[in-house]
Amino acid sequence: MMSPRPGLEARKKARVSISAKNTPKSVQPNSMQDQRNELPIASGKEALVEEIRRNDVTILIGETGSGKTTQVPQYLLESGIAGSGMIAVTQPRKVAATSLAARVAAEQDVSVGDLVGYSVRFNEASSAKTRIKYATDGMLVRELLGDPMLSRYSVVIIDEAHERTLRTDLLITNLKTIQKARNSPKDAKGKGSASQLNPLKIVVMSATLDAEKFSRFYDNAKILYVKGRQHPVAVYHTAVSQPDYVDAALRTFFQIHTDQPPGDVLIFLPGQEDIESLDKSIKLYADRLPRDNPGITVCPMYAALPASQQAEIFSPATPNTRKCILATNIAETSITIPGIKYVIDTGKCKEKRYVARETGTGFDTLLTRDITKSSAMQRAGRAGREGSGFCFRLYTEESFHAMPDTAEPEIRRCSLTSSLLQLKCLGQDLEDLDFMDKPDQEAIGAALKSLYLLGALDSKKCLTELGRDMAAFPLEPNLARAVVASREFGCTSEVLDIISVLSATSKLFYDSTDERDAAQEARRKFRHISGDHLTILNVVRAFREIWASEGKAARRDWCRKQFVNDRCLLEAQNIRNQLQEVCARMGIDRRTSCGENEQPVLKSLVRGLVQHAAFLQPDGSYKQLMGPSIVKIHPSSSLCDKKVPVIIYDELVYTSHIYARGVSAVPRSFVAEVPVLNHKGA
Ligand code: CDP
Ligand code: MG
Repeated sequence: MMSPRPGLEARKKARVSISAKNTPKSVQPNSMQDQRNELPIASGKEALVEEIRRNDVTILIGETGSGKTTQVPQYLLESGIAGSGMIAVTQPRKVAATSLAARVAAEQDVSVGDLVGYSVRFNEASSAKTRIKYATDGMLVRELLGDPMLSRYSVVIIDEAHERTLRTDLLITNLKTIQKARNSPKDAKGKGSASQLNPLKIVVMSATLDAEKFSRFYDNAKILYVKGRQHPVAVYHTAVSQPDYVDAALRTFFQIHTDQPPGDVLIFLPGQEDIESLDKSIKLYADRLPRDNPGITVCPMYAALPASQQAEIFSPATPNTRKCILATNIAETSITIPGIKYVIDTGKCKEKRYVARETGTGFDTLLTRDITKSSAMQRAGRAGREGSGFCFRLYTEESFHAMPDTAEPEIRRCSLTSSLLQLKCLGQDLEDLDFMDKPDQEAIGAALKSLYLLGALDSKKCLTELGRDMAAFPLEPNLARAVVASREFGCTSEVLDIISVLSATSKLFYDSTDERDAAQEARRKFRHISGDHLTILNVVRAFREIWASEGKAARRDWCRKQFVNDRCLLEAQNIRNQLQEVCARMGIDRRTSCGENEQPVLKSLVRGLVQHAAFLQPDGSYKQLMGPSIVKIHPSSSLCDKKVPVIIYDELVYTSHIYARGVSAVPRSFVAEVPVLNHKGA
């Protein structure tokens, strides 16, 4: 089923035919330059560069691992197509952007941040010398706010376009008008200065064959195909469905390990929790194997994993051991891991989805769901990159056939609040834009309502000054609102501490099942009577004292004893620094503190989380103020067994019930004081 694809050829207007040259063989087979030359894309390099030189927009399709992401930017730089401008390469995921920048910097023999850099939320490595920049799609959208013509860039490469993230779609739409203005300035209206800018090239890259739609959107742009070197993959399905997919993955892994010849194993799981639990189980069982069995190295791979541990997955396994990589769908197309012969596919992934009916608000939740056919094929394909391989699907063949072909684009299923605010800052309206897929009217309505409640839009849907201030922060609008409110209530220092922890990718508290009692006990001293937000503040304050007085080892030791995650606290410090810079630009004094009286902090949080307020019901559950749902307080919350009249929460979690996570008790008057509610007399 994994048949090779046609060679690098122009399909649409097949006027040019591109023939593959022989790949040069070299003396040192493993040097990085040789690896580059042996990639499938290398044989079509000149033809590819020529096509991009000739066309304003090029769509490039190629098997995962063929060299698109790492090589195309280097080709364009080396061939001079980029002129003196920069080349941006967008990635839907932070981890992909940083690890690819590291790889390409190494190939160019420079350090990251020099010629090759990256830009992801809360973290940037670039300088005046940077010519190739790997950026998350979200960061490039953010750059639009300060530079609506993206004038620094002469080439923008939209990578992983098939994922159709909301930010990627926003870029695809905006790039079309930017290119019109920059490349044919006479036709563009009202873009006065655009005529002085150099022309813009757009390259759209994807690993799947759905290129026609991108081509149509860009006035029938040319589609190029890179021939892959896919080896056959034998695919197996289970006879019956496996509800406990983590356990099924564990059993399948050990069957492979004990019965099958050498070769690394890649297991696809939906998220970090499952990865951590399988990681533990594999290590536990590995210890019980007879001594003469080959060893096992387990490598987790997910977004929140620190960069130092991510590097491990690319290094070859030590002799006589089998590497087992536990990954989310990040390893599906955006990152290619060498040495994989066996793939175990649980058939699950996590998907961001906006559940309007249940929440009545414009917020996304992450739901575990079945993957698509396209994902299943990509996952299987990972086993056949270096030789024939095997894919064990932990679902039945019928389930495979029942899967949808591809995922719905995010613009059709995610909250539009943050994008709507950014577009308003650009003077654009969601309703009027030319998208590949139009957003839903109901979702636009919910986003408008959210921004109105946050005070970012007025009753005529016009951007307010407050809204513009909020958009300056690289935060979701609700959190940005809390930071802006902290100016009014004189507690910016405290609010920044809390928001930074909430914005970190790793969690502050471990939910370790082994030592739950000890963890609870340790945590008790940080507990604040009002709930989780001020509990976070207590931890940050305590950590700051340790930070000031102790060395690195002692700090880590302290965190371990308190059962708090030092990784989260360090990440939060970095985020805080970034947010402080934005505050400085906005004239918000980051040092303003409310001291021991923490009421202003809760007031600020209410301004941002007003749509996440719920009132106690006689039966002990909580009813949303602005949605129809009845929610319970999540067991992980410090308020979980308390009954308080009014709560605000960070997010909802959908399991057996709808749970509110990250909860604080607030006085009813704080909610009533929110200006828009007040205005309506609520
Ligand atoms: O974008 P595409 O999937 O076509 O391929 P790529 O990401 O450019 O990867 C090309 C090659 O670089 C693959 O063989 C990867 O294994 C390798 N690579 C690597 O060794 N280390 C990285 N950090 C990234 C890529
Ligand atoms: Mg790629």
